Amino acid sequence: MSLDCSMNILYVTSECAPFSKSGGLADVMGDLPRSMVMQTGVESCVVVSPGYRSTMQKYGAKLVKDYDMKLDDPYDVLWVHIYKLVEDGVEYFFFDIPGIFDRDNLYGYSDDPYRFAAFSLAVKRFIIDQNNAGRRFDIVHCNDWQTGFVPLLIKQVYWDMRCIMTIHNPAYQGWLPPDQLWNCLRLPYWMYENGSVRLGDSVNFLKTGVYFADAVNTVSAHHAQELLADGNCFGGLGWALKAKGDLFLGITNGLSDREFNPTRDMRIPLPYSYHVHKEGKAAAREAAMKAFSIQDRPNTPLFIAISRLTPQKGLERLWGIGDSLKKCGGRLMILGSGDYDSEGQMYKLQEAYPENVSFWRGYSNDLSHILYAAGDFFVMPSRFEPCGLSQMIAMRYGTVPIVSDAGGLLDTVTDISQPDGRGFVFGNWADKDGLWSATCRALETYYSADGLENLIRNDMFYDSSWNRAAKNYLALYRKLY
Ligand code: GLC
Repeated sequence: MSLDCSMNILYVTSECAPFSKSGGLADVMGDLPRSMVMQTGVESCVVVSPGYRSTMQKYGAKLVKDYDMKLDDPYDVLWVHIYKLVEDGVEYFFFDIPGIFDRDNLYGYSDDPYRFAAFSLAVKRFIIDQNNAGRRFDIVHCNDWQTGFVPLLIKQVYWDMRCIMTIHNPAYQGWLPPDQLWNCLRLPYWMYENGSVRLGDSVNFLKTGVYFADAVNTVSAHHAQELLADGNCFGGLGWALKAKGDLFLGITNGLSDREFNPTRDMRIPLPYSYHVHKEGKAAAREAAMKAFSIQDRPNTPLFIAISRLTPQKGLERLWGIGDSLKKCGGRLMILGSGDYDSEGQMYKLQEAYPENVSFWRGYSNDLSHILYAAGDFFVMPSRFEPCGLSQMIAMRYGTVPIVSDAGGLLDTVTDISQPDGRGFVFGNWADKDGLWSATCRALETYYSADGLENLIRNDMFYDSSWNRAAKNYLALYRKLY
């Protein structure tokens, strides 16, 4: 048996699809551990995540109670009920902590830092329990701010246990007032004073993870460069990352072949491969028009945007293409929900261009698949984008991406002007006309003699599988092992 196969990896995450999901982190945590087991042959992968109310309600019947754990100081009244599920060779443990995770939503509470501090202490106890039972983890792979204290807490007990911190979104960092360090985590105040758990004037979860992890990565090479380019970015996180030297890198995410595969996608009316994409996409377009109650206008381009509606996603730039759509009679379908202001902007856009823009507030997985398949173009003008999964999904379904040059968008979408171009990339998000001019180029290609054919071929044959990404993670695990 090779060294790799005997590795024992623990993933710690606040979301994991299909059990809990608010964004791309859930997809990655749903796919990476499975790919490690199935594609790279790693022997043991364990995932721990919260047993939210929604998780317990939906999957409770499938879960088996493993054991109960009482959290010590400072949470000596907290019981953690641990449930287990084994699927595709991966062991999942859900921590059901009454009062902490038994709530309507995953996040968005004023005590979120306290909730995930308690979760992190529970993870530490779990690792000790597993160790006492004879299972020692070789790598503990933490994700985003919610797990930021885990590397430090583990190293208090097992100084040589290797930890990785993956940053999926540096904009969310998690913080506590310094005087809460002892109350919440039983950590001494000098850790704040000496800077190891501090960023600015608070205790910062993500920064702590970066500081104590043996290696740190973000989810694309270009975003890693962006974070290093400006030490002050994201509240000064860049400086902490610079200090990691070679131990900070970018690994571009993969995309599930199960969930996103147009050749066997039962959510679209007519599954298709590249060779019959015209028929498949036409059927999906018909279904999309029906879902939005729109009379289709043949030979006009269909633009799609599917996104969380937050400032990160930069969707206000869509205003820039309203007139172009009007001129060519094209249609833009927007699917998503998010903050009040961003939703308001989309309603206004729809009002301003009623013939051309349709906004569906909310989220439907079924509808999203139909739209990915139906579109000619997929628009994603993100302000910043650590990796981005939607542009990769669109490409799989032969929907040509029009994107800003932020983070992972630049790593995955090459501009049509490059050999093997896969879409249209605009630089300088601050320039209001960037998306507009990329859209003009897109429309020119759409109406040209060859149309989008070359791009669709390059998009549908682009390898965005987890196979590649999982191998890169394995190389990192090996480096630390
Ligand atoms: C976050 C990032 C996104 C990334 C995803 C998974 O949602 O915003 O860019 O693809 O995490 O890593």
